[in-house]
Amino acid sequence: MKRVAIFISGGGSNMVSLVDSMTGDHPARPVLVLANSADAGGLQKAAARGIATAVVDHRPFKGDREAFQAALLAELDAAAPDILCLAGFMRVLTASFVSRWQGRMLNIHPSLLPKYRGLHTHARALEAGDDLHGCTVHEVTPELDDGPILGQATVPVLPGDTPDALAARVLVQEHRLYPEVLRRFASGNRETLRLQG
Ligand code: GRF
Repeated sequence: MKRVAIFISGGGSNMVSLVDSMTGDHPARPVLVLANSADAGGLQKAAARGIATAVVDHRPFKGDREAFQAALLAELDAAAPDILCLAGFMRVLTASFVSRWQGRMLNIHPSLLPKYRGLHTHARALEAGDDLHGCTVHEVTPELDDGPILGQATVPVLPGDTPDALAARVLVQEHRLYPEVLRRFASGNRETLRLQG
């Protein structure tokens, strides 16, 4: 049984989808949900599901990224996960952290990578006049939002879409895509999954 740690920063809706999918014959189980802020709403949801939680607030480390990452690594050493999932985790992790977990670390990004790495992906897709948008689950490498793609789900961009409307449509697909990719990844399947919303 693979052990999965999940990093969050906010409400953790992707974390909830992942946790709720790890049942029955699923080859993995959640062992830790960690947030970079004590008021991340996802912490209560994880605790309500009986999952160990941890908080490593990034603010006391301001500027000392290596010290913040060392604190994250200490929590991971204690929980001993096999796989690390970033799920709405809004802190950049540098090569010194990623190199320890590369090959065992996933992230979900709300665009069809390689388009729109970074932030404000929905507004950028609208500005570009794209008629197709979506989300990507990829392996994390030191380059931001750049690792091998494990899965993508597409959604149509509709006339009159606002960034919030588009984000909501993408989020529904994130909750489908990430659990399915994790199940495959945990069973050793690296084939790219493509879903349509
Ligand atoms: C969402 O915008 C999602 O697209 C991205 O992270 C944000 C928060 O997700 N992956 P969550 O509800 O905290 O999982």
